[in-house]
Amino acid sequence: MSNKIQKIKGFADLFPNEAAVFTFMEATAREVFERFGFGELRTPLLEKTELFQKSIGEDTDVVGKEMFTFPDRKGRSLTLRPEATAGVMRAFVEQGGYQPGMVAKYYTFGPMFRYERPQKGRQRQFHQINAEIVGAPEAQSDAELILMLDTFLRALGLEKLSIELNSLGCPACRPLYRQALTDFFNTLPADELCEDCRRRKDTNPLRVLDCKVPGCKALVAAAPSVTDHLCDECAEHFAQVREVLDAAGLTYVLNPRLVRGLDYYQRTTFEITSGDIGAQTAVAGGGRYDGLVKNLGGPDVPATGFACGMERLALLLGDKAPAAPDFYVAVTAPQAANAALLLAQKLRASGLGGEVSYGAGSMKSRLRAANRISAKHCLILGEEEFVNNTVTIKDMVGDKEQVTVAHEECLRLLLESRSASCSEGR
Ligand code: HAM
Repeated sequence: MSNKIQKIKGFADLFPNEAAVFTFMEATAREVFERFGFGELRTPLLEKTELFQKSIGEDTDVVGKEMFTFPDRKGRSLTLRPEATAGVMRAFVEQGGYQPGMVAKYYTFGPMFRYERPQKGRQRQFHQINAEIVGAPEAQSDAELILMLDTFLRALGLEKLSIELNSLGCPACRPLYRQALTDFFNTLPADELCEDCRRRKDTNPLRVLDCKVPGCKALVAAAPSVTDHLCDECAEHFAQVREVLDAAGLTYVLNPRLVRGLDYYQRTTFEITSGDIGAQTAVAGGGRYDGLVKNLGGPDVPATGFACGMERLALLLGDKAPAAPDFYVAVTAPQAANAALLLAQKLRASGLGGEVSYGAGSMKSRLRAANRISAKHCLILGEEEFVNNTVTIKDMVGDKEQVTVAHEECLRLLLESRSASCSEGR
């Protein structure tokens, strides 16, 4: 048996090509979200287990089956966060200082943990980009959030995604809908629902709508629709969300079966899906969760938000080639090795980027190394260059010409080439 230590199942290493896509997503999110007035909030990866039990709901798959929960050294139950919203709201409540009328907007990135069966687009450690608005009850805040998500996805270059929209009602009308669902499920032969749903149909019938078991999925197709059970206020709120989205020209599909996998939602819910990434089609999801802050011991403050799954977005974006460096310094005579390193330092100090070969090698192997990193120029430092304090510049992209110049002149030429390629948009 090998004594090699392997990573944990469902956890992944991201090497530079893959990590670059994640950095690109994060940088784009920062740029877009900050234009909408959001600020970054970083919360811990580890929280008290009761935070998730209280917010996500005991009956959900996430809390019931998927959390990484373990006792600390003093026996207190801790959980690796399965999502960010609960922690963000805990931080909001703990920080205090809320004044009526105040609106706070936070975004957060980072790893989340769910003990699910790993497959394409589904990991046990995955990453989310998350955005939350706290303090705004208005339908316009839901609409703005959806428009911000759409702006972000377009900024990534993703335009062919579907948006599904629903309203789940509020504590006034939800009980009536729950009762209608329970009544409907009670008309079905008891053994047709899975074991979990036989229990859930009485305790939390909305969860039956979200069940992944094929038999249950087929049965819920005929279940009553939530949008037929909304109270006047919820129906009006939902109409206003749609009005803004329609006026903004956003295309979406109404899906009255969209209940989302977490219990805290009220009113607006939405999901963004893609048909191009396998069985796990949801790349983002979110909605309004007005009761959560109060439920966590805070003031009665409304809130709404969303999260994108970065691994799923990465499947759509593909790997990102790193930017081509300006130079590769090729040492072909051992005595030039230190001078090469110092030349590279001088170029970097002026904003250029590149690498240097540490020791001496054949010209052929050095040119191969320069090509491997797609360097725009190979700067050759051999015996002659070392003695004359010069460098030979080989153009690796254009005419492949070579010139031998002093180090200062090399810096000038490379800066000139960089500003030429910037103005050509290369
Ligand atoms: P969620 O729908 O559970 O919502 O997760 C959001 C996104 O995270 C999903 O659409 C999916 O892209 C990604 N995701 C979830 N589980 C996995 C997994 N095992 N592997 C890879 N990607 C995954 C939430 O988490 C809510 N907190 C969103 C929210 C924020 N609602 C309001 N504010």
